[in-house]
Amino acid sequence: MQKNNKIPFSLPYIDKSVVDEVNDTICNTGWLTSGPKVIELENELKKLTEINNVICVNSWSSGAMLILRWFGVGPGDEVIIPSYTYSATAISVLNIGAKPVMVDVDDDFTISVDKLDEKINSNTKAIMPVDIAGMPCNYEGINQIINSEKNIKLFKSKSESQSKLNRILIMSDAAHSIGSIYQGKPASKMSDFTIYSFHSVKNITTGEGGAVCINLPENFDNNYEYKRLKNLSLNGQTKSAFQKNKIGGWKYDIIDQGLKINMPDICAAIGLAQIRKYKSMLLLERKKIFDYYNNFFKDYNWAILPKYIDESRESSYHLYMLRINGINENKRDEMIKYISDNGVGVNVHYIPMPMLTLFKNLEYKISDYPNTYKLYCNEITLPVYNNLSDDNLLRICKTVKSAYLKLL
Ligand SMILES: Cc1ncc(COP(=O)(O)O)c(C=O)c1O
Repeated sequence: MQKNNKIPFSLPYIDKSVVDEVNDTICNTGWLTSGPKVIELENELKKLTEINNVICVNSWSSGAMLILRWFGVGPGDEVIIPSYTYSATAISVLNIGAKPVMVDVDDDFTISVDKLDEKINSNTKAIMPVDIAGMPCNYEGINQIINSEKNIKLFKSKSESQSKLNRILIMSDAAHSIGSIYQGKPASKMSDFTIYSFHSVKNITTGEGGAVCINLPENFDNNYEYKRLKNLSLNGQTKSAFQKNKIGGWKYDIIDQGLKINMPDICAAIGLAQIRKYKSMLLLERKKIFDYYNNFFKDYNWAILPKYIDESRESSYHLYMLRINGINENKRDEMIKYISDNGVGVNVHYIPMPMLTLFKNLEYKISDYPNTYKLYCNEITLPVYNNLSDDNLLRICKTVKSAYLKLL
């Protein structure tokens, strides 16, 4: 086994088309921040998600705060999230002054719909299900719960948008799940808002970035909300700098206290080149890697394979979250040390929030989320990215297998 030839855990997809698109921005357009490339990326996202209004922002986190503020969520309010997610899900809620209420997850790592209802009270304003690893949550179950007579009666409106919606908002943390499918359609159709991340490790990246799909019910004018949210993403300004920079275009108004979270064109250019080949190539290649891993590990009873496709859902193949039967946290950590020492980058998704200092100080306890702990303590995430060769895939599989055999 070649120790010097390391296999990184993650690599962004950069080909000539990405370089050309970035070069075009730098050399030809005369504009670096939000402008024509962002509009083009939004248009590509509309096609992929089948949602007519999509706003690009500078991260998932800023997009989530934008929507929570738009809905008037703040101190005294509660937002339900799963206990198994990256901390950004909870931190976006803390940052607008509300309380994240955690719900344990099922064995597929998504929020447990059976445990959701008991966490809803008159302070609950939103639920943020997380499509972990790219696998959509049980959106039908979530929609049924928030639309139940009991929960509609419990809902107390405090803002104009809350009165108009008149129920708990569903804003999906789709940081992992661009291109995922729910009941034959893009999963983005199942929530009021779906928020993606284009951070450097994601299936499509803009370095840092995100996008918000607006899919509010019919009593909202989604085109109007798009314009309003766009203004709010630009400090509440009625024009982007690109529009103001046009000759004679200087006049503007500030209509609200917004955030400054717009995506620059130079970032959008990277994602634009990638999204153009996403469904036809990049996503298919990711699926092949998942299939390769499943094919290798299916013969070993110590390997618990992740679910990435079933009768109603198909993943975006973001993270391959392998679990090892019968091991504890220490043994898992030893396995990771062995795998890393042999030049293969693996990861753990995620250290549960209740085990991290911030959340412990806020009195969240891991003992309240037993399934989250059970899944975390034997989880190892394997590399998935475009251009990972079959030789490397075989080496990754064999290294994981020898780690198990050597240590157990
Ligand atoms: C599940 C989840 N939610 C939210 C985020 C935050 O995304 P961003 O870094 O774009 O703010 C991430 C990023 O890794 C994530 O994995």
